[in-house]
Amino acid sequence: HRHLLGIEGLSPPEITALLDRSEIYVEQNREADKKRARLVGRTVINLFFESSTRTRTSFELAAQRLGGDVINMSVMTSSVKKGETLIDTAMTLNAMHPDVLVVRHGDSGATQLLSEKVNCAVINAGDGSHEHPTQALLDALTIRRRLGRLQGLQVAICGDILHSRVARSNIHLLGTMGARVRLIAPKSLLPCGIERMGVEVFHDMKDGLKDCDIVMMLRLQSERMRGNFFPSTREYFRFFGLDYDKLANAKPDALIMHPGPMNRGVEIDSEVADDIGRSVIREQVEMGVAVRMACLEALSVNLAKAEGRA
Ligand code: CP
Repeated sequence: HRHLLGIEGLSPPEITALLDRSEIYVEQNREADKKRARLVGRTVINLFFESSTRTRTSFELAAQRLGGDVINMSVMTSSVKKGETLIDTAMTLNAMHPDVLVVRHGDSGATQLLSEKVNCAVINAGDGSHEHPTQALLDALTIRRRLGRLQGLQVAICGDILHSRVARSNIHLLGTMGARVRLIAPKSLLPCGIERMGVEVFHDMKDGLKDCDIVMMLRLQSERMRGNFFPSTREYFRFFGLDYDKLANAKPDALIMHPGPMNRGVEIDSEVADDIGRSVIREQVEMGVAVRMACLEALSVNLAKAEGRA
């Protein structure tokens, strides 16, 4: 592939190859010498139209640890603020010959659109409520390292599914790799017809969590609700927030996951989030750097092939 725009369309061997490569980078990132030379000569531009802590920082670290040059475009202080469009902004950056553009945008499909205009590789760092492929890969790596497999696991994704690109990418990846996915959410936070993606739907946490191996919590994305349904956070926590009482229905050793950022006391109880034995939320962040190194490397290899250098 020239770009990484989504998990949809990736095959099981392609996903496995990215996860296997990421494993190597997990170990390397724990060493004192973290630098490798696989991206030397390559330029990566981070272009984030929405805020980010984890994704932007880990793409920057990933590019640096592979020896690439990386630029963070600050949209807030860019000419976007003077009315320059998404396409004009991307084409301006394209004229500077980057090799990879890492793009986050509030509109679903924005990264696909850019990929059709620019000469470089594009990585989707989250587009609206569509996809966030590197998040699903890092979630899969976290699960695989802890439980040894993805095949046959029962995973519950809970909360604001309607607005979640993380949920969509995870549904694609987990389904492709043979895991079973349950969605647990109020009706107002589930897209119509989501069952067609091969998932089971529940509206009650205790029913949905029964015998699950993985409990993946999602934030209420109030920034995408635009005057639509916004529940009282206290009421939401009572019915859909993960606490020990609801968690007792999952398997005794079920892993607790959250892509971040978390809203403690809204979708997840603070003690559950910090549960040393079962919460893998910080591990997910660590896996993010390794996964992004593997993705940058894979695209760089494909670029070299296209340039006739490999
Ligand atoms: N999970 C995730 O995408 O986090 P950021 O918004 O901080 O990048």
